[in-house]
Amino acid sequence: MFYRAEQDHGLKHNPFKALVSPRPIGWISTRDRQGGFNLAPFSYFNAITDYPPTVVFGCNGPHPEGDTKDTAANARDTGEFVVNMATWELREQMNRSSAHVPRNVDEFKEAGLTAADCELVSAPRVKESPVNLECRLVQVIQLRSSNPKITNNMVVGEVIGIHIDERIIKDGMIDMPTYRPIARLGYMDYTVVEKVFTMDRPD
Ligand SMILES: Cc1cc2nc3c(=O)[nH]c(=O)nc-3n(C[C@H](O)[C@H](O)[C@H](O)COP(=O)(O)O)c2cc1C
Repeated sequence: MFYRAEQDHGLKHNPFKALVSPRPIGWISTRDRQGGFNLAPFSYFNAITDYPPTVVFGCNGPHPEGDTKDTAANARDTGEFVVNMATWELREQMNRSSAHVPRNVDEFKEAGLTAADCELVSAPRVKESPVNLECRLVQVIQLRSSNPKITNNMVVGEVIGIHIDERIIKDGMIDMPTYRPIARLGYMDYTVVEKVFTMDRPD
């Protein structure tokens, strides 16, 4: 089949997210201007460069109390955010932290998580997550929206500090079956990294 993206696909649900999958989940923590904490998952997320390490996430949609969701607003206001990686053990807490709640609600408390201090930024990190990437905001780029009710913001951040739980390091490498990051598929589906295969580069 072929369909033009802005026309009807004729399927039961929009297949786009299921097609571009799996997508890692950047579980983003921020601090607002008043010092309040915020936490939410983003699966339009990935790493895009090594030198320096850079990440990007898409913060898309309205917020009843402002022009954008709290995460992009806080990153824009403070110039910082933290990416916490979501794992199998933390799947329920990750999901709970996605609830649409008023701006002043602290999702760390709502999800029963511990907000720990960072080394280089004032945003909090999720202590229970085995990987936290402390980020300095590079740019918020507003992308075209084809839905008048939705604002699309691409948030780019440079990773300036990295926390790794020693338990997921084996022989100097990240042990994926211990780490067990989860990723988003389409619909309400997720996957978990449990199987790894290796291929050498051709050159
Ligand atoms: C697994 C998962 C992935 C999500 N990915 C995104 C995403 O990539 N972009 C987005 O705008 N919202 C995404 N959401 C929804 C946000 O997490 C949700 O709107 C959240 O309330 C935003 O919080 P905030 O207003 O505190 O930033 C996702 C939700 C879940 C459960």
